[in-house]
Amino acid sequence: MRNKFPIHTTLSSEAIKVLERYEKELGAKNIVLEKALLAMDGMRYKAKLDTGGMSVPIKRISTGIPGLDESIEGGIPKGFSVIVTGPPGTGKSTFCMQYLMEGVKKDEKCIFFSFEERVEQLVQHFMRFGWDIGKYIDDGYLEIFGMSMLTSEEMIEIIDSYRPERVVFDSINVFAEPADFRTSGSWRSLLRLLKVKKISSLFITEKHHGIEIKQFDDYDFLGDGVIFLDSIQTNEIDTTPTPVMAVQKMRATRIDRTPQPFRFTETGISKYRSMAVPRNVMQEKLIARKKSSGL
Ligand SMILES: Nc1ncnc2c1ncn2[C@@H]1O[C@H](COP(=O)(O)OP(=O)(O)OP(=O)(O)O)[C@@H](O)[C@H]1O
Ligand SMILES: [Mg+2]
Repeated sequence: MRNKFPIHTTLSSEAIKVLERYEKELGAKNIVLEKALLAMDGMRYKAKLDTGGMSVPIKRISTGIPGLDESIEGGIPKGFSVIVTGPPGTGKSTFCMQYLMEGVKKDEKCIFFSFEERVEQLVQHFMRFGWDIGKYIDDGYLEIFGMSMLTSEEMIEIIDSYRPERVVFDSINVFAEPADFRTSGSWRSLLRLLKVKKISSLFITEKHHGIEIKQFDDYDFLGDGVIFLDSIQTNEIDTTPTPVMAVQKMRATRIDRTPQPFRFTETGISKYRSMAVPRNVMQEKLIARKKSSGL
């Protein structure tokens, strides 16, 4: 059977309709028209991809976590949606609020949507690090929505009118199963808004396993980056677990995926030299934990 349109596999459906109409009316194919439409389609697709600013270096924003920016080429690319994940009580909310504190210090407007904790509880926890949350709220640089029952549509409205530069969602497991979240139309609209407005966002998600288990959910695929927080026992004598973080993914960035130790200080969390816990010790502990988990 003759291929009806052999040369224009890249023609848009609108162009094909025009061609079909002419072919019907004239009783013959119009090669000149076909070529013109092909060229127009090509131009249209090129126009969609704005390559004008692509030689400009990627703008990166500081995470506010001492030691982290250096390991991700200076910070998170502006406008990225990054997943901050890990098992319970590993410092995910603290990490994210510290990220917002870095923003407010630079007069950037920030929003923290918490779906499971009350504002009072959050503020009390964060005040322990000396962060003047109340002042930033009063000055109009920070909004915290505690125990939020907001829908994604309402959050879109808030983001659209407040125009923040950084947003945190804590945690999105409350909303939907990872696979459903990824395909949900309303969340896709929200993600699109964040991208279009170049709002750098952190999405907290929950993991039921430690960092040694390489199991990724749909949130991890959806994020431009994935930062995993965990805690592991690295010392035989002192059994207090060492908090660790690993950048498992950061698009457009060179990364070292090895878990790195961090600590809770009086001013927040701080990544410290991995020399403090030698790499081989860290690896041994992770392998041992994986074996004992049976996964
Ligand atoms: N000064 C500190 N020193 C050591 N650990 C601390 C300190 N402050 C908080 N933590 C630890 O941080 C954890 C709580 O932090 P955070 O609420 O940020 O964790 P999370 O991962 O968000 O927890 P959840 O899964 O419950 O939401 C607790 O396990 C707590 O023990
Ligand atoms: Mg939390």
